[in-house]
Amino acid sequence: MTTLADIRKPVAREMRDFEAYFNRTLQTDVPFFRIILNYIIRRKGKQMRPLLVFLSAKLNGDITESSYVAASHIELLHTATLVHDDVVDDAVERRGLPSINALWNSKIAVLVGDYLLAQGLLMSVEKKSYNMLEIVSGAVREIIKGELLQLQKTRKLNIREEDYFRIITMKTAALISACTACGASSVTDDETTIARMKLFGEYIGIAFQIKDDLLDYSGNGLTGKREGNDIKEKKITLPLIHALREAGILEKRRIIRLIRKKKKGRREIREVIEFVRKHKGLEYAEAKMREYSDKALQILEFYPQSETRSALTEFVMYSTLRKT
Ligand code: IPE
Ligand code: IPE
Ligand code: MG
Ligand code: MG
Repeated sequence: MTTLADIRKPVAREMRDFEAYFNRTLQTDVPFFRIILNYIIRRKGKQMRPLLVFLSAKLNGDITESSYVAASHIELLHTATLVHDDVVDDAVERRGLPSINALWNSKIAVLVGDYLLAQGLLMSVEKKSYNMLEIVSGAVREIIKGELLQLQKTRKLNIREEDYFRIITMKTAALISACTACGASSVTDDETTIARMKLFGEYIGIAFQIKDDLLDYSGNGLTGKREGNDIKEKKITLPLIHALREAGILEKRRIIRLIRKKKKGRREIREVIEFVRKHKGLEYAEAKMREYSDKALQILEFYPQSETRSALTEFVMYSTLRKT
């Protein structure tokens, strides 16, 4: 499989400059905060979003300073949502290390997330990147709506497949489509192009989150997150939605009861995973994921062959084949 380092090749220099730029936004003169922000810098993620901003820009023109501002703003925002998400999900691990809420506490994690959001906003305002600011702020609102809807549906355990797709379109695909839209918008004013790129990102985002949910079932310990956490947190994702639909009423009741339990051990989580496997929930989710990654690839067909287009093709493939 192609690695992220291969996919980065057409924009390797931009990704290097981005990293320095991004790290500069995480400086502070408050000593205690510096410790936490340095912790965040050290345990960086895959940086797929800035990569997608640059590749989307390059596919449609020449990378500009605006592309850097968007890439940095989006990665800051993404980092902020993860810090908050781990509070919401009671998650103790992130990127192979303890989450901020686990290492310090939830109060600190809320403030650190807010700080990162503010840094992103300030940076875009300083650079007068107003149209990026509009795209990115729209995405933030969608993420929050998606997280809220997920909490509400999860509490009732009555989530349907269409709810699941609404949730992931908001909580994950909105930010990934902001990457492709900002990338395009940093190099062209053509509305049709920007709209097409936005849709491209939305399809990638949906496939990306289905993969994230699959990895919670079968990540083989490589994700850097505590796997099985979705079940523990009563989060019903696509594989489980399908399995519950396929199961008989008695079995379904038993599994719902298991999921409802407050304190679940490894044994209960394993039973839910076995249930999902038995009813082909993983295969079903994989097929759906493939539908969306194919839609994304079709949009790329619109562009002539180039090194950047190939990298984007690989980006789509990587989003669905990744193990981390
Ligand atoms: C995790 O995103 C959050 C989701 C939308 C599933 P990534 O898998 O891109 O996280 P990092 O940045 O690489 O840690
Ligand atoms: C990902 O949510 C989307 C956001 C962070 C808003 P998840 O809760 O599904 O992501 P992971 O699995 O914790 O990264
Ligand atoms: Mg979550
Ligand atoms: Mg989470």
